[in-house]
Amino acid sequence: MTEKRHQWASNLGFILAAAGSAVGLGNIWKFPGKVGAYGGGAFLLCYLLIVFLVGFPVMLAELSIGRATQKNVVGAFRTLNPRWRFAGYIGIVTLFVILSYYCVVGGWVLKYVQIYAAGAHFGAGPGAYADYFSTFSARPVEPLLWGLGFLVLCIVVVVRGVSQGIEKVSKVLMPLLFLLLAGLVVYSVTRPGAGEGLRFLFGIDPARLSGDTLVGALGQAFFSLSVGMGIMVTYGSYVPRTENLAKSAGCICILDSLVALLSGLAIVPVVYITAGPEAMGMGGGFAFMALPEVFSRLPGGVFFGFAFFLLLFVAALTSAISILESCIAWLTEEFGFARLKATLLLVIPMSFLSAGY
Ligand code: PFF
Repeated sequence: MTEKRHQWASNLGFILAAAGSAVGLGNIWKFPGKVGAYGGGAFLLCYLLIVFLVGFPVMLAELSIGRATQKNVVGAFRTLNPRWRFAGYIGIVTLFVILSYYCVVGGWVLKYVQIYAAGAHFGAGPGAYADYFSTFSARPVEPLLWGLGFLVLCIVVVVRGVSQGIEKVSKVLMPLLFLLLAGLVVYSVTRPGAGEGLRFLFGIDPARLSGDTLVGALGQAFFSLSVGMGIMVTYGSYVPRTENLAKSAGCICILDSLVALLSGLAIVPVVYITAGPEAMGMGGGFAFMALPEVFSRLPGGVFFGFAFFLLLFVAALTSAISILESCIAWLTEEFGFARLKATLLLVIPMSFLSAGY
């Protein structure tokens, strides 16, 4: 049975849900690390230019395609031209893969929230946090269970539908995210010596304005804005015809960049002060190894750690929800499955893929 098409209850709800999709692990986990790896201000400049010159038009195009066709990503491209249907399928496959990996990292984040909620640092001395993370993530069952817990939370929201589930949750979680982030920024920039980190973040070294930096910024911008995979096609299809999409896309791009910038402000100075510039470019394990070690050297570091991982959790949850929703919209609209059935059909094979990481 095909369900009645969903719609956002308010434009604010839509903007917060779409910003919730855009603001995710990419902003808080990846962005500060990339700023470090690509040399600070030069990367920031390239990133912001790309967001507004390339990301914004692409997002507006996706939202418009969704609203014009009133369909999921596969249906939308098929409606534009049956030969373009494959573009929709590429989107679905990409989302499926991203979600399987997102749940693994979401599970790690949940674990760290629980550790910090217990009220103590969990390592002693340099290297202890890296050892802890390597041991934890290599365990056969525990990380899987945390990942599954994260996925179940997404499912609980998504099966309630667009306005009753995703929109309602985003309206609570996004303000909470800003509040947590603002607190972390205030703490970070008022540390003695924070100026060094800020100079690194905003100072532009012309030698770093290279093709490499540009390509790094391009990949980061597309991932961070959730464009190029059909999420915004799906979210756009729920927007009433009376709303101004250009304004909404502008708000989403601004909110996403603001969170990336604030995350940089929250993370770069404290890492700079405690661990030096070398620690900045640590890729994947940055949040789970370098940061807890940094937190352990800060006064009030347990609380900072708790707030940081809670923030990361909120950001990851709203992004994962948007990915799940886009896949479910495809299954319910194209095959007529009920929402719950579509969700289960999707998450069971996905859990196996997650287990493989
Ligand atoms: N934009 C999210 C982030 O920055 O973490 C990740 C993401 C969500 C990417 C949805 C792609 C997507 F379709």
